[in-house]
Amino acid sequence: MKNKFPKNFLWGGSTSAYQFEGMFKDETKKADSIMDNFINNNLQNSYFEIASDHYHNWKNDIALMAEMGFKCYRFSISWPRIIKNLKGEVNEKGIEFYKNIFLELKKYNIKSVVTIFHFDYPLFINEIGGLQNKEFINQFKKYSKILFENFGQLVDYWLTINELCNFYFAGEIIGLNVKKDSKEIWQIIHNLNVAQAEAINLCHEMIPNSKIGPAPNVKPIYAGSTKPIDNIARLNLNNFRNWAYLDVACKGEYNKFFINYLKKNKQMFSITEEEKMILKKSRPDFIAFNYYSSNTVKISTQTNDFNKKWDQENGILIDNFACQIKNENLDKTQFGWEIDPIGLRIILREVYDRYNLPIMITENGLGAYDEKTLDNKIHDQYRIDYYKKHLEQMSLAIEEGVDLIGYMPWSAIDLVSTHQGIKKRYGFVYVDINDNGEGSLERYKKDSFYWYQKVIQSNGGEL
Ligand code: BG6
Repeated sequence: MKNKFPKNFLWGGSTSAYQFEGMFKDETKKADSIMDNFINNNLQNSYFEIASDHYHNWKNDIALMAEMGFKCYRFSISWPRIIKNLKGEVNEKGIEFYKNIFLELKKYNIKSVVTIFHFDYPLFINEIGGLQNKEFINQFKKYSKILFENFGQLVDYWLTINELCNFYFAGEIIGLNVKKDSKEIWQIIHNLNVAQAEAINLCHEMIPNSKIGPAPNVKPIYAGSTKPIDNIARLNLNNFRNWAYLDVACKGEYNKFFINYLKKNKQMFSITEEEKMILKKSRPDFIAFNYYSSNTVKISTQTNDFNKKWDQENGILIDNFACQIKNENLDKTQFGWEIDPIGLRIILREVYDRYNLPIMITENGLGAYDEKTLDNKIHDQYRIDYYKKHLEQMSLAIEEGVDLIGYMPWSAIDLVSTHQGIKKRYGFVYVDINDNGEGSLERYKKDSFYWYQKVIQSNGGEL
């Protein structure tokens, strides 16, 4: 059977600034950022300092993307590279860096899909009390305005904030030190939601015909048994990790279940009438989402102390609510992430049915220990197999009616994982550097590079 993808389908790849560019603070006049801070306190993560050194290799990297046939490239702008301080002074060097990237992409006819905020933010935000202070919303608005002024004519699709739910689920990985069962964490999430809505409204006001959307991480949730009560657990987690974020972004309000949960647990954040209006007014043009895996849950009867029971390896346990269990039907990656291509089709269908907006997939991919052979080859057939299975399911979802407009796997080129170093590789292109910062930084095309090139050439017909 031939897979079918729409004409003008956006084939591409994805990266984020702090994981790809490298910091090079002095040279680039970049402001201190939360990740610099994280680096200093956490030697293990010192590799963000150089990362893949895209900062000095952007031309070559874009040429490689063009050679693969990319129709689009999804990347993020580094907030601390653009804004110097709370007053909002602009770092011209930062503006110039991204302008060059946009112009280079145009040269190859590659559309830009730009995330405004992907995990790393300026340290000066802590001077106003961090993300939990409502002044954060103004700072974000100020930053977004500068981006729209400078790059409004150059960007094809704007994405607001990457994986808002992970400020909750994985806050510690991105430098947040806030308890999970607290009002503060939900205030952060709410402030981010309002900041997102402000950016959407501003983008539409400032740039005629602009397109902007949220960029959540979504997972289909399965009931871990045929017991009806485990389906309640499924609904609970669905409301909590998927719809809580997408409802507020697309419908302008939080779902009742989510709000009731926070109130019951005395974790309700503060929301003003004005904020409610801002949320109501904002309407995204599309949904971009990141997909890696699914969750399987049973009802949990345990109570209290979510923080203690939270465990990256064993998963989620939410009091009286849902308990994540292993799904025996799914294989795992070398890093223990469940591989679930049909799950992608399920979540595509669910998200489309619920919101009826065009969808682009802005992350999906396999983190693995790739090996470079003596003749500089990388035989990553496992990655090709992974992508094939996901693309087949995407094609079926399209056939079933989902308006899927693009696919930007993670990652275009190797970069540093959020918490597991560059040894966990995701790219179509291998970057010669290890977790000690040793290596030539040379780029090598993996087998998946040539495979993806053919996929794009055949518009997904040949997998
Ligand atoms: C997504 C993030 O959650 O997953 C990326 O948006 C991240 O920034 C990717 O790199 C893969 O996760 P990890 O932890 O393997 O880097």
